[in-house]
Amino acid sequence: MTKKITIAIDGYAACGKSTLAKALAQALNYTFIDSGAMYRAVAFYCLEKQFVDNQGVIQKKQLEKFLSEIEIEMTPDQRIFLNKQDITDAIRTPRVANVVSQVATIKSVRSKLVELQHAMGKNGGIVMDGRDIGTVVFPDAELKIFVTASTEVRTARRLAELNATGAHVAANEVTKNLLERDYLDSTRLESPLKQAANAIVLDTTYLSREEQLQWALERVRLLITN
Ligand code: CDP
Repeated sequence: MTKKITIAIDGYAACGKSTLAKALAQALNYTFIDSGAMYRAVAFYCLEKQFVDNQGVIQKKQLEKFLSEIEIEMTPDQRIFLNKQDITDAIRTPRVANVVSQVATIKSVRSKLVELQHAMGKNGGIVMDGRDIGTVVFPDAELKIFVTASTEVRTARRLAELNATGAHVAANEVTKNLLERDYLDSTRLESPLKQAANAIVLDTTYLSREEQLQWALERVRLLITN
């Protein structure tokens, strides 16, 4: 496999996009970029700066005033830094998950992050996952995968991840957040979550991680050898 392609993976919250993207990048010796982590970084910044009112609404004007001060760095070992601070674990909390989709509706935030994403993927050999990767960020990606899974399975997977970090969250709270984010992400004006016309759907509900990986690797093989 010599030709290095661009792989875009999109889909709903907690359906296994990052897990698949990471495994695929490792198998192909490509770079993996979790674009959602960047939106979570901006959401974390808003919480730290208290740019959120009592109702949990992001203060867009305040955020936009400080946007140029936000510096995000992602390292090859999958750590993410916000203005030199390692926030890799801090962005995975329900507190961040509760406001991230509001932040992701803001046009200026998206422009800034998409610019970074373009720079990271300019040489190909990349697997990037998110919501608008196949539609907006890399519309010419050679392989586009749209991942889905049942709400029950998505809840169970996210709950297990949260429990592993020692966070105790009720299952119904997790489901509520996933569905709220899906709604905001698919109905926003700026780059809404939607399946690209030429994306292939992968339903991960009944598939193991290994089965998902093999399915995706087969798609890559078909592209590279044709
Ligand atoms: O891992 P999970 O599915 O929970 O979400 P994520 O990939 O970490 O993304 C968090 C949030 O960032 C999403 O719910 C979207 O609101 C936003 N996002 C986006 O708008 N565009 C992207 N390319 C990636 C994430």
